[in-house]
Amino acid sequence: MMIQQASWIAMDGAASTVVPVFRRKFSGAKGIWSAALEVTCDGVYEARLNGERIGNFILAPGWTEYRKRLQVQRYDISDMLQEENVLEITVANGWYRRTNAPWTGTHNPDEFLPAMVIAALQLRGKDGIVETILTDERWEVSESNVTLSGIFIGEDVDMTREPHFVPAKVCDYPKSMLIPQEGPEVHEQETVYPRASFRTPKGEWVIDFGQNLAGYMAFDLDAHAGERLSISTAEVLDRDGNFYTANYRSARSQLHYTCREGHQSYKPRFTFFGFRYLRIDEAPEGFTADQIHAVVLHSEIRRTGWLESSDPMLNQLFSNIIWSQKGNYLDIPTDCPQRDERYGWTGDGQIFCRAATLQYDVRQFFRKWLADVRAAQHENGWVPEVVPSLTAYKPGGGAWSDAVTIIPWQLYQTYGDVSFLSDMYDAMEKWLAYIPTVSTTEDLWTGCWTYGDWLALDWPEDYHPATIELSKRGYSNDDLICSAFYANSVSIVIRAGRLLGRDVSGYEALYRRIAAAYKARFSKRLNTQTEKVLTLHFNLSDHPQALADALAEQIRACGMKLQTGLVGTPYLLHELSRYGYTDIAWSLLLRREYPGWLYSVSKGATTVWEHWDGIKPDGTFWDDDMNSYNHYAYGSVADWVFGVACGIQPAEPGYARVRIEPRPDPRLNSLSAVLDTVNGQIRSAWKYTDRGIRYEIDTPVQAEIVLDGKSRVVEKGRYLF
Ligand code: BGC
Repeated sequence: MMIQQASWIAMDGAASTVVPVFRRKFSGAKGIWSAALEVTCDGVYEARLNGERIGNFILAPGWTEYRKRLQVQRYDISDMLQEENVLEITVANGWYRRTNAPWTGTHNPDEFLPAMVIAALQLRGKDGIVETILTDERWEVSESNVTLSGIFIGEDVDMTREPHFVPAKVCDYPKSMLIPQEGPEVHEQETVYPRASFRTPKGEWVIDFGQNLAGYMAFDLDAHAGERLSISTAEVLDRDGNFYTANYRSARSQLHYTCREGHQSYKPRFTFFGFRYLRIDEAPEGFTADQIHAVVLHSEIRRTGWLESSDPMLNQLFSNIIWSQKGNYLDIPTDCPQRDERYGWTGDGQIFCRAATLQYDVRQFFRKWLADVRAAQHENGWVPEVVPSLTAYKPGGGAWSDAVTIIPWQLYQTYGDVSFLSDMYDAMEKWLAYIPTVSTTEDLWTGCWTYGDWLALDWPEDYHPATIELSKRGYSNDDLICSAFYANSVSIVIRAGRLLGRDVSGYEALYRRIAAAYKARFSKRLNTQTEKVLTLHFNLSDHPQALADALAEQIRACGMKLQTGLVGTPYLLHELSRYGYTDIAWSLLLRREYPGWLYSVSKGATTVWEHWDGIKPDGTFWDDDMNSYNHYAYGSVADWVFGVACGIQPAEPGYARVRIEPRPDPRLNSLSAVLDTVNGQIRSAWKYTDRGIRYEIDTPVQAEIVLDGKSRVVEKGRYLF
């Protein structure tokens, strides 16, 4: 990359909070055949040529394990050149120089760096002569009109501010981490217009977009210089209909815009928000709701999966799951897009990954993030709980760090591309080598930190946890969870290793020892739903049917309620159907009361909630602390709908052959799934009619179709039964 010849530049003496604009003037156009710009920064940037934005990548260069990997973007700007040109690059703090949330107890070591940019512009003449303009002391720099910026903060902008350019300073900063762009770019994807505009009981002016989303607001207005537009964001209103922001915790999440004279339009350029509602805290006289709209941001991923049913509430759930994927696939897979978090939680990433691969083509998205997992993995093999990592933060523990095996395996299943496994195999092996070094028991994974079955509902009623922390972890045994995931990771490495022609005999022996130790230690202590589900899902029981019977009985006995948290929920319905309890799986899915997937829908949710009862039946909140309304983890249920309710399973990786065994339920009149696989489009639909159930199946490849227990093999085509 020609950028390697350039120098990092900064504004001399500027504090890290200053958002500078770097500028370089040059002549061109006449005689120029092509022009390309390579650029990156230690924050997020926006580049403009002659006032026009270069490229559509929002929040470039995205978020990676920066100290090892910083993406460089390359833009073809040939068509933008004029006789005399001004190239401007504004650099804000972004993720690189973020302030870590206080709850992490960590500091970002790069937080107090000044804003720096590095760029190379190559002008290729018609005569073949190449001129290269590199960042150096010939560039100028000024404070921009962005006076404060941060991913959690939002943006403060003062359009009355005049620039004062001074020469830029060359900085001695490493370039070894510069890599070409790998991930799909984040783009503006959709526009959402206000659904309603009203005064709350407190008298505040609130605009409702009708959809919880990740992105920003955009507006245009006429104003006098110095007038202000100040906007706060929120996901939900409280019981009384007032604006509720406590669940953002320390994320300020506001825009403060000081107008210049005349007509103007603006949208934040260096941040994003998770919101459905905007509160207009201050506005120029005459400003109305139709002057503002919302812009949805997410990574450039192609939709591949669609679900539709005869139940509007279920359809709303499907829509909520899609919106939570969009809201949380913003350059990295995040837990949530709104509070002081928005981190690449490895556990959430693996929990939702199967559903994610069905709904969107996420190959490139995960290829980049998995490269960051490799980069973030410590020498000793531990995989951080969030990637890109927070320096000095904890290893993830069972079910979180196991993303290192689970996600590549899932990508291989969905897309049939073995390179996901070969790219990650060493990292998987390192992870497996790490576990025995910290476990307190041979052949099990015990005595270590894990988040447990995070947010499960099964701590006993008479149990008074010493700290709220405990009540968030459910009652499943940590050692069991970690050991079950250890067994699963070993089994993935065995299967991946075989495919890659590796010697896996050592892992096979290890697996046998883990399974035996697990059964000896836990088989008589399978109390919670999640403990049973994990034991079934990872094939760690000698009597799986009896265990599944007990699970079904337990669910019935507590009033047909699931009690599982983040760890158990993604597998719960699968294990119920696998052992003959599809009716219970359907009951849980269709349940409209707490806890159940349609409960949040009944409360008006437009994205998936973090808590089964983020808003309680009486309208109060679960708590302020862990109360995201855009958390895709429980949206993992979409993979049961595609794979079991509509019955579309890959018989071979990448759906090169398929098995289709739909499991209709009379409580629903009809259901259909469309899946664009790398081998073509599959459709599986069923509908109850006067003459029985009508199945419609399209398959682009050979399929085994199983209906009412009867199996038939068909070639590609459309089939009605
Ligand atoms: C996140 C989760 C994450 C968890 C770890 C939370 O703050 O939002 O989704 O997995 O921490 O238990």
